[in-house]
Amino acid sequence: MEGIFITIEGPDGSGKSTQIELLKKYLEDKGYDSVVTREPGGTAISEAIRKIILNPEYKEMSHMTELLLYAAARAQLVNQIIRPALHEGKAVICDRFVESSAVYQGIGRGLGVDTVYEVNNYALGDVKPKLTILMDLDAEDGLKRKKKQTSLDRMEQEDIAFHMRVVEGYRKLAQLYPERIVTIDALMSVEDIHSRIVAEVEKRFF
Ligand code: TYD
Repeated sequence: MEGIFITIEGPDGSGKSTQIELLKKYLEDKGYDSVVTREPGGTAISEAIRKIILNPEYKEMSHMTELLLYAAARAQLVNQIIRPALHEGKAVICDRFVESSAVYQGIGRGLGVDTVYEVNNYALGDVKPKLTILMDLDAEDGLKRKKKQTSLDRMEQEDIAFHMRVVEGYRKLAQLYPERIVTIDALMSVEDIHSRIVAEVEKRFF
């Protein structure tokens, strides 16, 4: 595949969207047609699945159902958007990807990271990000930023212990795959974070 596939991860409220916009602009200036997408979502089907997953009324959802719904939304996004774009040589930036499942479902819900990757292999096929940016932020700080919102979705309503497991999970994952997952302190300034991301992109792709 010719294109560039970068994913951005981090706890709720870690400032991913701002950095994605800056990265998109940078890649376009480099001459890349860029596609920005998000998970769960990015296609009509995946957005419909997103509504089911995040609906706070579905308190009875089993952890395995949750894992499979995220994987189903991902399978559609990969097949409909990401793989074709990479084949056309485009740059694809995805707001969350399989590492979100590894930490939220694998560690947060306790299903196990291996189980998550096994299930997701069916959704991903040969599509794997070459660079994953982890916006590292303590759970309390992320939730403080999110609490400013009026309504919280089903995942955001989880208690602080869940969100702390998620943050620890991300850090552990970054230690396991240091060549691919780059950790960046989300409390740095917007400009400094962007520069760090650009340096990592240049190291790998240019
Ligand atoms: P979203 O509002 O997109 O997250 P944020 O704006 O905080 O990045 O909501 C997605 C939620 O779903 C978020 O709480 C993380 C969670 N999630 C998982 O639990 N597993 C997954 O595989 C993905 C992609 C997201």
